[in-house]
Amino acid sequence: MKAIVNGVALAYDDTGPREGAIPLVLVHGFPFRRDVWEPQIDAFRDARRVVTPDLRGFGESDAASGTTTMDQFAEDLHALLRHLATGPVALAGHSMGGYVALAFARRHPEMLRGLALVATRAGADAPEAAAARRAAADRAEAEGPDAIVEAMASKMLSPAAAPAAVRTVRSLMTPLSAAGAAAALRGMAARPDMMSMLPRVAVPTLVVTGADDLLIPPAESDRMARAIPDARLVVLPGAGHLVARERAEDFNRALAAWLAELPGPGR
Ligand code: MLT
Repeated sequence: MKAIVNGVALAYDDTGPREGAIPLVLVHGFPFRRDVWEPQIDAFRDARRVVTPDLRGFGESDAASGTTTMDQFAEDLHALLRHLATGPVALAGHSMGGYVALAFARRHPEMLRGLALVATRAGADAPEAAAARRAAADRAEAEGPDAIVEAMASKMLSPAAAPAAVRTVRSLMTPLSAAGAAAALRGMAARPDMMSMLPRVAVPTLVVTGADDLLIPPAESDRMARAIPDARLVVLPGAGHLVARERAEDFNRALAAWLAELPGPGR
């Protein structure tokens, strides 16, 4: 399905019962699209509404250009949820999707009943990391997105992952819009440090990561979990950055426990 929000067509899936439990919204990371959440959609759609958008510039959503800030992604998400009349949601974001979830939490706390931060971080990029992202954005625009796909696909899973699993990861990143990826890279490079807002998060929060995450050290999750009141930290062994796929059953168990903690009725 598609909806025009903030002037762009956003693709999304919206499944599961409309009544009862608080809707679950899952925001993909970079450079994925919404079907990366397939194991979670399958696991939770019987019990609750599950909404999965393609962020602007990714998947089947309209292309982006220039810079897409995390605030812009968060505003797109907010407009989509208003369009879908979801009411307040339980929001889970993976990696870049976690940056978006934190921007959403800061801008629209009234729409949040639960927060899950998956293999992500609240800190900003160091200057060298931000410069490297901007260079990668320029390169993607000049030469196409293949280098990004190759660089990211090889680091998404734990070192023990089978080559077939890496091929599956690559297929979840392609086709990739060079302009969309470049815009998100510039947006990530510009994102602010969000550590200081974490003590104000006032909803049940799950912080979950893979013990073998090669892209964002698990210590970042530990840091976030300590800063958020009563956050629950889950570190899954044998999983890398794409923990929701690599250890889908254990990951879904952690999500289910978090969803069971949401304020009722209809949690
Ligand atoms: C992601 O998976 O979304 C990216 O690794 C996030 C990042 O590059 O900071």
